[in-house]
Amino acid sequence: MIQSLRGMNDMFAPDAERYEYFIETATAIAKRYGFNYFESPLLEETALFKRSVGESSDIVGKEMYQFIDKGENDVCLRPEGTAGVVRAFIQKKLDKQGGIHRFFYHGPMFRYERPQKGRLREFHQFGIESFGVASVLEDASLIMMLADILKALGISFKLKLNSLGCQECMPPYREKLVNFLESAEEYICHDCLRRKSTNPIRVLDCKNGSCQEKYVDAPKLADNLCGSCDVDFGVLQNLLRENGIDFEIDTHLVRGLDYYSKTAFEFVSDEIGAQSAIAGGGRYDRLVEFLDGKETPAVGFAIGIERLLELIKMPESTRSGYYMGTMDDEGLPIIMKAAQAKRQSERVVVEYKSKNFKNHLKGADKVNARYCAIIGENERNEGTIWVKDLEAKTEETVSLDTF
Ligand code: HAM
Repeated sequence: MIQSLRGMNDMFAPDAERYEYFIETATAIAKRYGFNYFESPLLEETALFKRSVGESSDIVGKEMYQFIDKGENDVCLRPEGTAGVVRAFIQKKLDKQGGIHRFFYHGPMFRYERPQKGRLREFHQFGIESFGVASVLEDASLIMMLADILKALGISFKLKLNSLGCQECMPPYREKLVNFLESAEEYICHDCLRRKSTNPIRVLDCKNGSCQEKYVDAPKLADNLCGSCDVDFGVLQNLLRENGIDFEIDTHLVRGLDYYSKTAFEFVSDEIGAQSAIAGGGRYDRLVEFLDGKETPAVGFAIGIERLLELIKMPESTRSGYYMGTMDDEGLPIIMKAAQAKRQSERVVVEYKSKNFKNHLKGADKVNARYCAIIGENERNEGTIWVKDLEAKTEETVSLDTF
């Protein structure tokens, strides 16, 4: 028997119902913040991710679903959404047009990781990207939107915040960090030694306990920000406090993608095990230019939907619509016609097998219908239908013309 690929899941109810509810809730909130729906292809040129996410990142280095297509193009399944949105933004010349452009999207992403709870090879993100606003007020709005989405779903979270500095303050910080790493070479792991030359700040989120012990003494990004990054980081923290959003500063939060500068954040949950990051994002003011567009400030985030599913508190499911059936086969064409008319405005589930009364009532219960509507011999002869309201526990026989 053919099985699904490792790390790629089918989604049935109740997960599928929670997924749908998540998309509805997040979409409504994103629209309230002025964001517009956006779609882009799942397959892109590999070079797009190498240049944006970064050659030294785990995503590009180890996790891409990359192949040569029949036209000899080097392509890959998107491991994340931001790069594709930026590519589309430049391709449509929105960078040249200027102004503010705000998008939201959702769909599958692909990373060839070792599957475990909360870590899949095909997973789904809900993402937000905002272009054209340099002010940190937009960063604050995005974080508040993300908090609104999680609150609406009944999910508690912790927010971790950091600033990764800008072109001015990052290079001198990086130099300080490399000097520190050189002095600590004998205590740190192989990966960190490699990163010291490829992308030193990534050492800060090394999962190795002894490296982390050593990095307690490492120079901190937050202490090395330039004047303007420092002011912005302060404004952001004040805005969050004033709006009742708790956070903690995590000076080791560097994110696994290379395009970030200034604000970086992650939302984590302590209720879902080791893969605790439920969303992440930040500012990426240089990426549009880096992908050959006109310099445009930008900020965004993405939520990992699978990691949230078990935490979502759904509203109590309520009975809705009609269950319809007949007590003999002669009634079937009549019930099909009546159902078709009703379906123009209501949810209708038709039972094609004729059954007795009691079994139809059981069937209506099973599909959570509000009404059970049945046609028996009498109703067929009189042109009527028997309807029971399963919530109000009332029943009546009505003419099919007025049903
Ligand atoms: P990311 O942190 O790589 O950021 O992914 C965002 C979220 O996707 C993570 O917090 C996690 O919940 C979920 N996720 C990541 N990998 C997996 C996996 N293998 N299985 C299940 N869930 C996963 C980005 O992708 C950026 N594009 C976010 C962004 C948008 N930054 C700016 N704009």
